[in-house]
Amino acid sequence: MGYRVPDTIFLGIETSCDETAVALIQGPHLFGHKLYSQIAEHKPFGGVVPSIAAASHLQVLPTLTRALLEDTALPLADIDAISVTAGPGLVGGLLVGLVFAKGLAISLKKPLWGVHHLEAHALMARMNNSISFPYVLMLLSGGHCMVAVVEGVGQYRILGQTLDDAVGECLDKVARELGEGYPGGPRVEILARQGTPTVELPIPLQRDSGCNFSFSGLKTAAVQWIRHRTQDSPLSWVEKADFCASLQQVIAKTLAQRLHNALKLLEPQYPSCQTCVVSGGVASNLYFRHSLRDVVEAAGKTFVAPAPELCTDNGVMVAWAGYERFRARIPPCMAIEAQPVWSLEALRQAS
Ligand code: KG4
Ligand code: ZN
Repeated sequence: MGYRVPDTIFLGIETSCDETAVALIQGPHLFGHKLYSQIAEHKPFGGVVPSIAAASHLQVLPTLTRALLEDTALPLADIDAISVTAGPGLVGGLLVGLVFAKGLAISLKKPLWGVHHLEAHALMARMNNSISFPYVLMLLSGGHCMVAVVEGVGQYRILGQTLDDAVGECLDKVARELGEGYPGGPRVEILARQGTPTVELPIPLQRDSGCNFSFSGLKTAAVQWIRHRTQDSPLSWVEKADFCASLQQVIAKTLAQRLHNALKLLEPQYPSCQTCVVSGGVASNLYFRHSLRDVVEAAGKTFVAPAPELCTDNGVMVAWAGYERFRARIPPCMAIEAQPVWSLEALRQAS
């Protein structure tokens, strides 16, 4: 297919969970991006309802794309290529994104790349920073938690991942128990800023020298503490803030320890890994970023994290991952299907 090489304009589309997001980029230049969050729609149900998510993506995606084109003053015909999240995620939302992207690609006669959502998080930092392969990645999101070596586009070696709940799931569940709503991570961060860590909580995998993660024990301990303390009266604002500061401190210690272990393990095998990237929604937390930066710098390496608004789900990361695939000469594929379950390591065979 004939698409322009040096100045390819990519439209990126993200619909894998509860955010409809689109972006237009040209290499590292961002023309603009738009995001619609479904938080309010799912709020009455206390979590993301897949059928509501899919219906909302269907309704919002065309309007959001039109608004993006209007705001950036780019005619539809100027789009050179399209990338869309193909998985992992909720199948309904993925199908909406894929059908829309395919329709647009066919009508505009432009190539289409299906993007792995976690690869989009993993490569995001390369858009605004010069980071060469291989680099260490710590990915912290609502559904995933992992440490990996990014050897190239589509080339991931996972060193450790979550054995049960991801860190975001733990933050979301605890915040819900505190009556703070969804998503919980940002609420915990705001409350923690006003509090003092006075509550003792268990540090997950404290004596383990590997780099897997486990947050279900901490989640249960935190929920039990809240239920026990609120039997007779609700927590005061100060008690909530102190509790959030305690939870945040324990999570930060855990993440720092996991990353320290990973860097130690990697040093003999990948002495050329000079950079460590932290990414995913939970990586927008400034307290976590601080403590992880300390670990990385103590190991003599460079710490990089995307801007907080590019850590949480967005269309820019999908557009950028499409551009990275294009640049790595990975062929486009119109036949890409929704892959609700999709391992990052499986990309190696496909690339
Ligand atoms: O990457 P993401 O936007 O979506 C997934 O792919 O899962 O991550 C969402 C997660 C949620 O659990 C949310 O509570 C958490 O990221 N999060 C945060 C912050 N902002 C979002 N966690 C801690 N501190 C934050 N500031
Ligand atoms: Zn995500």
